[in-house]
Amino acid sequence: MPIASERDVLRSEFRWGLLTAAAVGLIFLAILTAALAWQINPPSNVELIDPKTLHLSGEFTEDNLGTQVQGDRVAIRMIASQFAFLPRCVVAPRDRPVTLRLVSPDVIHGILVTGTNVNTMVVPGYVSQVHTTFTRTGDLLMPCHEFCGMGHSQMWATIRVVESDAFQPDAQGRVACAQR
Ligand code: CUA
Repeated sequence: MPIASERDVLRSEFRWGLLTAAAVGLIFLAILTAALAWQINPPSNVELIDPKTLHLSGEFTEDNLGTQVQGDRVAIRMIASQFAFLPRCVVAPRDRPVTLRLVSPDVIHGILVTGTNVNTMVVPGYVSQVHTTFTRTGDLLMPCHEFCGMGHSQMWATIRVVESDAFQPDAQGRVACAQR
């Protein structure tokens, strides 16, 4: 086998370099498409909260959980704990910006809402915040997707997305799933 000339080596290196650059470019394009076209972004919100006291005072006391209209935004607050979400069901209006805020008092949980861009971990000590707009009505399943113990597979909540005329906040701006 003839010994490769320096020129051949350089050419080969150039080809591999080009291939690598193309792969990196493709991945970069995929990230850009996901971020700009599908609004799928890594969570960037860093907010600390004490997991030992979050249910006693402040934003995540029982009275504050669930859906609340605040000005032109709809906030949904939930606690993810072993092995249930509190509340178990929340209401969201269709085609309106919604901010989900979740905390954990115990271990790491994770949430995703089927068919949407909502997907984040809920780490004790931090507030997990996701902005989204639900585009279809119905009961969307929100399972815990981070193994959190023996009851993990039973841990899920429902996001009830309703038409905006069926979304009727009370005097406190609260909307809840019907009792049944
Ligand atoms: Cu909570 Cu798995």
